[in-house]
Amino acid sequence: MKLVFATNNKHKLEEMRAILGGKVELLSLADIGCEDDIPETAETLEGNALIKARHIYEKYYLSCFADDTGLEVDALGGAPGVYSARYAGENNDSEANMQKLLQNLTGKSDRHAQFRTVIALIIDGEEKLFDGVVRGEIATERKGEAGFGYDPVFVPEGYDASFAQMPSEQKNAISHRSRAASALNDYLQTL
Ligand code: IMP
Repeated sequence: MKLVFATNNKHKLEEMRAILGGKVELLSLADIGCEDDIPETAETLEGNALIKARHIYEKYYLSCFADDTGLEVDALGGAPGVYSARYAGENNDSEANMQKLLQNLTGKSDRHAQFRTVIALIIDGEEKLFDGVVRGEIATERKGEAGFGYDPVFVPEGYDASFAQMPSEQKNAISHRSRAASALNDYLQTL
């Protein structure tokens, strides 16, 4: 089966290829010649994932899926959520985003949070949503150098180390993204 993954992020493509295995031929946006900057204007992760998947399906008539991820912090009513990449402004500056997050949690005893990834799949015009969640807590300061985004301040449940202190294989084994990808894979196996 051929499926377009609406991304050009090499790490995401590799991780997804490893999870979906040989049964699925995964194509990137570059592979189908799509250079569109697809606007992510929805107010939910589900909405943004669907915008991207529908864009590809409606323009190319190819079965496809797209993902969107957010960090949802309990004491902040689920923020930054869908705005995670641009929490501190439009230019996706992870340092500034983490600084704003730590500031907004100053003095709060509840530091529970979760990463959530939503995948929107369209096969032959039929839409399906999958999600993957990893619960954890926001540390009081940055820890570790690996990873990206909010990894230095996110400590997954059951661990003392932050995502940025873990080898990538360890993070990938429990991450929101890999859980959503496994849910997608389970569904594809039933087709
Ligand atoms: P995207 O939908 O995968 O582009 O993720 C949106 C934003 O969520 C990113 O810009 C990061 O700030 C944050 N994010 C997503 N996944 C992770 C992760 O695995 N670790 C840390 N931050 C992440």
